[in-house]
Amino acid sequence: MKNDLEKILLSQDDINQRIGTLGLEIDQHYQGSEILLVTLLDGAIVFAADLIRNLTIPLRLDCIRVSSYGNSTDPETAPRILSSLKSDVEGKHVLLVDDILDTGNTMERVSREVLSKKPASLQTCVFLDKPERRQNGFRATWSGFSIPDEFVVGYGLDYAGQYRQLPFVGTLKPAIYENPS
Ligand code: PRP
Repeated sequence: MKNDLEKILLSQDDINQRIGTLGLEIDQHYQGSEILLVTLLDGAIVFAADLIRNLTIPLRLDCIRVSSYGNSTDPETAPRILSSLKSDVEGKHVLLVDDILDTGNTMERVSREVLSKKPASLQTCVFLDKPERRQNGFRATWSGFSIPDEFVVGYGLDYAGQYRQLPFVGTLKPAIYENPS
């Protein structure tokens, strides 16, 4: 699997260090208030698992699943909420966690859903941000790394469902795209 990579963009050390800093910032922001940390499935589970172990504030977990829609901007295929939250959101401090902020359409959709349930506050934390790709001006409250518009895998991010378990982030060799198995 590692042989399929062209280059490593973010090492395990880079990631661990950055998540440590994010944890401090998020702890400080909430100053001990309990939060409801909502992970967007599937890609964000790796990041969320590491992030929560760098937080000391009290927190509860929930997840939300949104439909995949590739690169289409067709409203017919815009992100749809497939399974909603099990928690009662009203009055809670909600932190949405995702692996990557790309066009911003997913986060915008999920934020709208959460806001309709009247949380006390809503913030967002993404592992990676590709600002060049944004279609809607969405900005995350916290982002781990801002990256150029390159297709990356690892640390939760997949190509055709694979590579999510790599503990670092890298780009794939072109041959992998050109000769899909
Ligand atoms: C990816 C990623 C984000 C979304 C970002 O999800 O996990 O949720 O796309 O894209 P956007 O900013 O353009 O909306 P994907 O649909 O690939 O599902 P996954 O989490 O299961 O990998």
